Amino acid sequence: EKEGFDHFMLKEIYEQPRSIRDSMRGRLKAREGIVLLGGIIDYQQKLVNAKRIIIIACGTSWHAGLVGEYLFEELARIPVEVEYASEFRYRNPVIYEDDVVIAISQSGETADTLAAIELAKSKGATIIGVCNVVGSSIARATHAGSYTHAGPEIGVASTKAFTAQVTLLTLMALMLADSKGTISKSRFNQLLHELDDIPGKVEETLKVNDKIIEIATVFKDVRNALYLGRGYNFPVAMEGALKLKEISYIHAEGYPAAEMKHGPIALIDEEMPVVVVATNKGTYEKVVSNIQEVKARKGKIIAIVTEGDETVKALADHIIEVPETEEMLVPLIATIPLQLLSYHIAVMRGCNVDQPRNLAKSVTVE
Ligand code: F6R
Repeated sequence: EKEGFDHFMLKEIYEQPRSIRDSMRGRLKAREGIVLLGGIIDYQQKLVNAKRIIIIACGTSWHAGLVGEYLFEELARIPVEVEYASEFRYRNPVIYEDDVVIAISQSGETADTLAAIELAKSKGATIIGVCNVVGSSIARATHAGSYTHAGPEIGVASTKAFTAQVTLLTLMALMLADSKGTISKSRFNQLLHELDDIPGKVEETLKVNDKIIEIATVFKDVRNALYLGRGYNFPVAMEGALKLKEISYIHAEGYPAAEMKHGPIALIDEEMPVVVVATNKGTYEKVVSNIQEVKARKGKIIAIVTEGDETVKALADHIIEVPETEEMLVPLIATIPLQLLSYHIAVMRGCNVDQPRNLAKSVTVE
């Protein structure tokens, strides 16, 4: 059932062109200029009128939520708060009846996320679910929702569920932007077409695998790693760091690139790999200067760049090129090499990739 792959995780990484396509099937109609989310259509007006969206999740799903925050704010101009379910539920949070809560969970069984939903529900908020497992406890506890349709995820480290969650949040943000009129028709259509092209670009991105194996060989024995990104790539950096921690047991931190100078820069020496997600357009120059700051302290740069990039290429020790896309869709692409990097490093270190120590696929304890 691993279909020729050595591990479920690798199989699931390679499934992403298909799983992303599945999460858009029947929902994204690029040629007609339509986004249709049947599962939440009855609550579409609640979302349109929401003064605030609260996203609740844990772990990788929380990282997807952070990408969602940027998407909803940029496209639909709705303020968003992204909360760790465990922190939210225990601090007597302010919840209004016109708040919309989006709960994200692959398994649909995460105890803290479920409890946070019940709390928000008891205060009268509307709860929308983004779950992968059909009929799961969280899917049943929400008022409405959209399944990610990534298919069963067996590897404990979440991969295809993450990209499916981000895909779905992108669809939701686009749908809302269209209903609210916060986006022009032409820009909306342009983004739909670009989203429609993402599965093909993910397929293209998977070709970096051999390059990643080379890089993994160089860095497999390090004890620490830093992951940096700005804007939409900040959650990508955090997710990359989490993947490395989980399956290779190498300590890693994901940071917004500009925060480096407020502390983590002290860690940098000639042994420290710094993975920089540098595909940004808007803040490209800023990312370049962050890379220069690392190089000035002799850190080793592994950079993920857009095909054809010259400036970062000249500065970095290792380059991973990915296809060009809209800045807001980059997480769907830039995440792939980071999944592969943690996978290969973990395999080279002899770790149990599909079942890392101390971790469970569903965290049903609080
Ligand atoms: C990371 C990972 C965990 C989960 C977290 C939430 O690879 O698997 O961090 O993302 O436990 O799980 P779900 O999404 O099932 O609520």
